[in-house]
Amino acid sequence: MSQHTNTAAFLPGPGSTLEISSAPLYEPQHGEVVIKNEAVAIQPFDAKVHDANIRGTIKSYPFILGSNVAGTVYAVGEGIEDLEVNDKVVADTAAYVTGDTRMGTWQRYAVTRRRTVAKIGNASFEQAVALSFPLQTAVAALHLYLGMGKPGTGREEERVLVWGAGGAVGTYAVQYAKSVGHTVIVTASPRDVERQKSLGASEVVDYKAPDAVSQLRELGPYKYLFTASGDKNSQQALASLLQPSGGVFASVARSDIGELPENVKLIYDAFSMATQREEFAEFAAWWYDEYLPKAISESLVQPAKYVVRRGGLAALQEASRDVLESKVKEKIVVNPQEG
Ligand SMILES: NC(=O)c1ccc[n+]([C@@H]2O[C@H](COP(=O)([O-])OP(=O)(O)OC[C@H]3O[C@@H](n4cnc5c(N)ncnc54)[C@H](OP(=O)(O)O)[C@@H]3O)[C@@H](O)[C@H]2O)c1
Repeated sequence: MSQHTNTAAFLPGPGSTLEISSAPLYEPQHGEVVIKNEAVAIQPFDAKVHDANIRGTIKSYPFILGSNVAGTVYAVGEGIEDLEVNDKVVADTAAYVTGDTRMGTWQRYAVTRRRTVAKIGNASFEQAVALSFPLQTAVAALHLYLGMGKPGTGREEERVLVWGAGGAVGTYAVQYAKSVGHTVIVTASPRDVERQKSLGASEVVDYKAPDAVSQLRELGPYKYLFTASGDKNSQQALASLLQPSGGVFASVARSDIGELPENVKLIYDAFSMATQREEFAEFAAWWYDEYLPKAISESLVQPAKYVVRRGGLAALQEASRDVLESKVKEKIVVNPQEG
């Protein structure tokens, strides 16, 4: 390893500017892999933690942000038989769960646990990383938290509502629900109608239409309800659509909705980090060994759009700000090896 060096984008404190400087080149411990990072995608969560340390995620500074990456295996720890140096992979790290800066992916080399790594065959790093985090968010919310089945197990008569399907999480939620076998109704912008239909939506309602809720009521009832925008308006709409019998919906964000009707339960969690949790070990095994590699290398899902931002680690500061301010509709992907 001695001919290589590591460089990281360190965050000195909440909301501060990233500082690019040298970092240790890590030795993997038992069950760990070191990845040479070739692509990271900036998620809204990264940008919010960068800006304001939401949910008290960072316990001590300086910190290295980022929990998803695609790249090549650089070093393999003891106890790992099924990965080799130079394998192309995508991974989710436990950086935000453990606070371990070795696992932050906004650096050239990062450590992750073998059990959260998937092989990607000949797929591009950019495509793999742009897909994995929001896809996990959507599938974990629908399958683990709302109880939707696996692909091919659902019934067409059972309807699914995905509110705010225009973003990455929504794009994958539509496709997953369709692949399970359900009829999928979405809300999205009028300019997105054709794409939503190609993803599998049977009806697309404009979420800004004043009568969106009554249009959706006509198209229901729904067995599964999910808001992929997570805003207050969407949560109120879903709570209202569950009347009069009540029920459950999942949301990507916890908005200040106030009191929900007594017969409505909102499910919110860090769906994107489901595979880091022991209780979901079975899901994680299916995810990294079966579903995610297929989704990537067999193009099981149509990827949400991404743009590559040049400049390496130095580009992360502005990219993170752009994501925070919703200036770019696509996922921004950066190659930490550049620059
Ligand atoms: N809980 C978790 O585990 C988890 C994980 C990942 C993401 N998230 C959260 O989920 C949200 C979406 O993430 P993402 O990666 O999908 O973001 P994204 O790709 O940046 O999605 C943004 C798009 O969503 C649509 N949108 C925005 N506001 C909306 C609204 N009020 N109503 C309906 N649609 C709206 C817009 O598309 P159109 O203009 O085309 O409608 C917008 O371009 C973020 O808040 C993120 O923090 C949560």
